[in-house]
Amino acid sequence: MKKLFLLLCVCAAVTGVASAPADGLPPQAKRGGMPLLEALSRRRTIREFRPDALTDRQLNELLWAACGVNRPDGKRTIPTAMNRQDLSVIVLLPAGAYWYDAPAAKLVLHKAGDFRPQASRFDAPVKLLFVSDTEKLKPTPDGRDFAAVHAGAAAQNAALYCASEGLANVWVGGFDPAALSQALELPAKWKIQLTMAVGLPAK
Ligand SMILES: Cc1cc2nc3c(=O)[nH]c(=O)nc-3n(C[C@H](O)[C@H](O)[C@H](O)COP(=O)(O)O)c2cc1C
Repeated sequence: MKKLFLLLCVCAAVTGVASAPADGLPPQAKRGGMPLLEALSRRRTIREFRPDALTDRQLNELLWAACGVNRPDGKRTIPTAMNRQDLSVIVLLPAGAYWYDAPAAKLVLHKAGDFRPQASRFDAPVKLLFVSDTEKLKPTPDGRDFAAVHAGAAAQNAALYCASEGLANVWVGGFDPAALSQALELPAKWKIQLTMAVGLPAK
């Protein structure tokens, strides 16, 4: 509970939305939302966003859906080949780029500054980067890249959460990974597989 409270405090600080309740109870619930089949029927790409920030709860749940820990043994909402857990999410908010520390359920500042424009041309309050630790998982000898599969699983989890929550999102393959990695000063082992713009739909 303490860790989630920290997450909410960081989120509140960086998004400018209401802070966590005084008792620190996280508004994230691991139940609720829209029935899965309804969320699947609503899943779609929406490319135009309102400027409003996500609430603490929405950001928290979005990240947890993407690759959060969902069992006491530390495993995630996404499966990973050989349980390598090579996939992480970086969140780009107006104040900075933050690692989502899934086991601790908190955001850790990576670099201050607004890097959202470099993640895609879409004007959204939140951008997610799906990044692989290439030292944890290599492509198979016959060339199959399960790291990209993991990024896709996390992105689809996030997209289904968006559908359930009435949020807009677009997956973005059209960005410059080298330029974005350089701007963020990411260590070489991290590969940005995909980005996603998220926010309230413009209409
Ligand atoms: C891996 C991947 C990369 C994508 N990259 C982009 C992109 O760079 N720009 C964009 O506008 N849409 C992008 N999209 C969204 C697709 O264009 C969109 O999913 C497709 O048109 C089908 O629409 P739907 O998602 O509403 O079903 C991407 C989707 C995927 C799965």
